[in-house]
Amino acid sequence: MAKTVEYGLGPFTYPRGWFMVAAAPEVTSVPSAVRFFGQDLVLYRGQSGRAYMVDAYCPHMGTHLAKNTTSYVIQDGRHVEGDSIRCPYHAWQFGPDGRCTEIPYSKAPIPAAARLRTWVLEERYGCLFTWHDPEGGAPDFDLPLIPEWDHPSYVHWSIDQLGTLPCHPQEIVDNMADVAHLGPTHGGPAEYFSNVIDGVVLRQFQGAQHRSLAPGFMLETNTFYTGPGVLLSYFNGAHAVMYIAHTPVDDGVVRAWHGLLVHSGKDVATDDDVAGARQQQAGSLAALAQDFEIWANKRACLAALAVPGDGAFSKLRQWYKQFYNPKAEAARFQAQANGTFGARGLPLTRA
Ligand code: FES
Ligand SMILES: [Fe+2]
Repeated sequence: MAKTVEYGLGPFTYPRGWFMVAAAPEVTSVPSAVRFFGQDLVLYRGQSGRAYMVDAYCPHMGTHLAKNTTSYVIQDGRHVEGDSIRCPYHAWQFGPDGRCTEIPYSKAPIPAAARLRTWVLEERYGCLFTWHDPEGGAPDFDLPLIPEWDHPSYVHWSIDQLGTLPCHPQEIVDNMADVAHLGPTHGGPAEYFSNVIDGVVLRQFQGAQHRSLAPGFMLETNTFYTGPGVLLSYFNGAHAVMYIAHTPVDDGVVRAWHGLLVHSGKDVATDDDVAGARQQQAGSLAALAQDFEIWANKRACLAALAVPGDGAFSKLRQWYKQFYNPKAEAARFQAQANGTFGARGLPLTRA
């Protein structure tokens, strides 16, 4: 698959922003190996209940901190104690800030370099998110707020693991402007369509009679990326909220997840509403699978053979570049991309 440099996105291989790294229930006191942004990483949950993400390799001699079942450090249950993680090889222990707190066999002072890199990790909406910034800066925008998440009338999603896709995230983000695929791919030809770009947020408004998701009525969606990797889509107001997250694993490879937060139609959702919500989520996933099959098998689109009626891909790609360039230049990319963009032959809003 094509790499970031071939798309001409900017100097950074991986974008700045919030990215999902795991569904919350996956992260336990048994450390697990993950890979994102071209780096091997480890996730674990401390005894306080808080989750951590650290670089995978021990600064002592490079041992992988999670990929071990046979060392007595692991067999004796000393892998995670409190909120610290211990290396399986020589049992160095690292605290939640990544600093080495114990070298069991050495009386000498612990070297300052005995330190694991720790990553920002936020647990929200049943997911764990990290902030990735090639310049090492703190978050300069927030994860999206989902007020419905805390409302008792909703059934929470149960995250679908979509695995890795040999596809640059640009191809996935392109979908937001892709008005012309909605009919042929999804059976929901848009009756109106617009993209609204404002800073780090890219929005799509559209409405259609959708052959599988909304037979016989209008499905209107308000879909938006907050930064480059986290998408929410409000269906008909907030009847349901679809969630899609994708995170670079390597250059030209992404991992993705999906969920659907579903309004029960009652003031307070009960256990009986869960099966229906799962069924709706499966329907949403089936619609996403129509995109996935295309993304998984297409060649890179470095320059489309564009015709009138295609969406505002060039504006979208201009928006997306801000995350691959120094933070100091983000405002310039935003100024070039901000605005409302439609598609030839379609109204911007519902008639
Ligand atoms: S390699 Fe980790 S403690 Fe030696
Ligand atoms: Fe699509």
